[in-house]
Order: sequence, then C-alpha cells, then structure tokens
Amino acid sequence: MFYQRPTLSKFLIEHLRDAPDGPDLSALLIDVAAAVKTIAAVVAKGQLHVRGAAAPDRATTNVHGEVQKPLDVLTNEIVIGHCEWGGLVAGMVSEELEAPYELPDGLRARRHLLVFDPLDGSSNIDVNVSVGTIFSVLRHDRDEAPGARDYLQPGRRQIAAGYAIYGPTTMLVLSVGRGTHGFTLDREIGNFILTHPDLRIPETTSEFAINTSNERFWEPPVQRYVGECKEGRSGIRDRDFNMRWIASMVAEVHRILMRGGVFLYPRDTKDPRKPGRLRLLYEANPMSMLIEQAGGRGSTGRGPLLDVVPESIHQRIPVVLGTREEVERIERYHREHEDGTDRPFVSPLFNERSLFRPEAL
Ligand code: AHG
Ligand code: MN
Ligand code: MN
Repeated sequence: MFYQRPTLSKFLIEHLRDAPDGPDLSALLIDVAAAVKTIAAVVAKGQLHVRGAAAPDRATTNVHGEVQKPLDVLTNEIVIGHCEWGGLVAGMVSEELEAPYELPDGLRARRHLLVFDPLDGSSNIDVNVSVGTIFSVLRHDRDEAPGARDYLQPGRRQIAAGYAIYGPTTMLVLSVGRGTHGFTLDREIGNFILTHPDLRIPETTSEFAINTSNERFWEPPVQRYVGECKEGRSGIRDRDFNMRWIASMVAEVHRILMRGGVFLYPRDTKDPRKPGRLRLLYEANPMSMLIEQAGGRGSTGRGPLLDVVPESIHQRIPVVLGTREEVERIERYHREHEDGTDRPFVSPLFNERSLFRPEAL
C-alpha cells in the first residue's frame, strides 16, 4: 500500500538517527523540502504567478553577469525564508547572491552551511521544460560566523546533497551519504514519499549529453570521445549512441540516475576566463555526490570532482558525470592526450624540417 512507503521525515529519522547532529540535519532537510514544495507550487503557476511573470522593467543581473529572471530572485528568497528561521544553519551561499548570506542575530546556528542553486535551468522556464533546485550541506565547526572561506570545502566533505526536479511530477532526490534516494511529491497529501529507494546507475549506456554547438571550442579528448559516440556502429565503439541535451542539469542528471548515460559540460575555449560553465559548490559537487552514491562517477575529466579544493564560492569547473565506465574512458582520453599517446607517432625524419619532405627532394 502506498501509505506504507516512508515519507521523507520517516526516512530522515531512520537514516540520521545515529549521525552526529542528526536531528538538526533532519530538521534542515525538512526545511529545504518545504522550500521545494513552495517553489513547485510557484513554478507550476507559470505566467499566472504575478512575480513569476516576465517583468523586463525589473531585470537584474547576478554575480555571474547573467540576467536574473524574476523567478531566480523569488526562488532564492523562498529557500532563504524557509531555511533561516529555525536556527539550523550558520550561513548560506546561493548562486544568486554575490556574498554568503549572513543570518540575522539570534537565528544563527553553529553546525551547518547550506549552499544552493535555487532555480537551475531557468533559461528554460519560458518554454515549460523541467527546471530544478540543487543544494548541498557542509559542516561548520567554528563558533564564529562563517566567512566565504568556510565554504571552500571539497565535495567529499558534503554531509548531504540533493536536488528537486519540477517536471510532470515534482521529485526530491537526496543523499545523506548512504545511497541516493528519490521521493515523489504527493500533491494532495503534501508529503514527499520514498518511491525510488537506493537508485543504481546502470553499468553500461549508449546515451550522452553535451551542447554540441560548442564542439569547435572543446579540447581534443572531448572531441575524440563525442566523435567516437557519433560514429556509433561504424567506429570503435561498435554500437550506436543517442544524444540528449535539455540544457537543464537537473533534468540531465535525473535521466542518468533513472536509466544511465553521461553528461558533459567540459572546459572549452569559448570564453578563456571561464574554466567550465557550471559552478563547483552548488551544481557540480552535489550532483557528483548523488551520482557517486548511485554507483556512477563525477569528474573534471582529469580527476574526481569531489576532491577539488574550491578557491572561491562561485568557482566554475568542467563537469563530466554519469555511468562509471564512460567517465573513466573520458578521463583516460584526457591522460592519453596529455602524454601524447592519442596521436600517431610521427618520426622526426618525416617532420616539417625533414630532408624527406617532397619539396626538399
Ligand atoms: P542556471 O540556470 O542555474 O544558470 O544553470 C543552467 C546550466 C545547466 O542547467 C545546464 O546544464 C547549462 O547551464 C545549459 O547550458 P547551455 O546554455 O550551454 O545549453
Ligand atoms: Mn544552475
Ligand atoms: Mn540557477
């Protein structure tokens, strides 16, 4: 019976019973879930929501120089509003705020930091494609209020991570370090119900996701990998691949958790100031934790994302994640490119200055 499936609260009580600060972490994740329910309701209203409607006269820009949609601003306020009141966080970092959010006096707790992207894929909001919220919880061990430096922890130190996807159904996908679990929002009852316990990413895949309009800017190992996928049965992969690109990371990661695949937003030369498109703290790290807890792998292309020590709170990073064997193949292609073994050996006798060049003969 559906009512015998655990709700999110029951799941958290069970999974965090013995964890240090378990009750506080549970309460914080319940607050995040409350924010997600509010955002689900707002997003579902679309243009019917007065502050969700396009308001070009109020266009603002965020720290990344991107135009903020009214819903980017509103969803940011919703997460902060739901998570600051309970005295459960020491501070928060959001994609939409330049500096860490400082808690008002009396509301600051000691232990946890919350980092989040309140509305991922917001460029899709006008076309009614799935969008999401991504979040991660880090520990804060000092008594003092956190500064930006306290958030610069490698992803391995995340104690919880998750995302909500606002699609035909609203789902919350969560890890507290013991597997990745999916909950579906039962709108009539208002509860998240555990519908996808212990997600496992299939071990092989024939699906890749990348924005191929950037192909000419990619590095050679990525060009090689995607080229081989496109060659399909007629190339060395010996099977045909499918390509998907939703331009909404939550939707791509969700697809990978459900049926496998690989997602790439690699380093490219399009804008040399940006070492990737996605942000380490509140996009790449939480998604990597969820993928790894489901048996997949998250990488920069050169090594595990979760080991990267962040240098700034809004740092960008190349992202490759999904089915383990594909991610490992892409890492191997990067290594082979670095040591030159991906290129055919050309004898110095035949190089440009060689006596054997036809015009030199
Ligand atoms: P955000 O809406 O939070 O800025 O993030 C959008 C991200 C991510 O969801 C997606 O994978 C990528 O940007 C889409 O990039 P393209 O515009 O290159 O398709
Ligand atoms: Mn985003
Ligand atoms: Mn966003």
